[in-house]
Amino acid sequence: MKKIIVTVFTLSLMAFAAYAVAKGSGASAKKGAQLFMTKGCTACHTIGKGKLVGPDLKGVTKKRTVAWLKNWLKNTTKMQATDPTAKKLLQEYNVPMPQQSLSDQDINDLIDYFKSNDK
Ligand code: HEC
Repeated sequence: MKKIIVTVFTLSLMAFAAYAVAKGSGASAKKGAQLFMTKGCTACHTIGKGKLVGPDLKGVTKKRTVAWLKNWLKNTTKMQATDPTAKKLLQEYNVPMPQQSLSDQDINDLIDYFKSNDK
């Protein structure tokens, strides 16, 4: 009997943790969607509607690692000068994406938003 109680307790804790994580990332992705509109990203990017000045960002979290995306959004200009993938992108698009001023929190929210579009 004690074992059953412990098992039920553990399972409900796990369910709650999974719920909290799902809820948390949902809120973050929502904030990311707002940032994507308000920070001017939509002037150059679509998600799933084709290229504009910059690449269509649908699928970007499958093409790039989270670490690369964080670095890109934080140090765009530096990456364009040093990172092989970024150099290639710049060659392809010919327009350097301007350095954005985003907080680490903004960057996490934006990446969660991209992830939510790539599920
Ligand atoms: C003035 C146009 C412009 C704006 C504004 C802009 N970008 Fe970009 N972005 C580009 C271009 C062009 C590239 C391709 C790389 C290059 O040429 O520098 C790019 C590349 C990217 C990439 C990498 C795509 C890949 O295929 O790896 C991401 C992610 C990205 N931008 C996100 C953003 C986000 C988020 C914002 C808003 C905070 C933003 N961009 C604002 C033009 C822009």
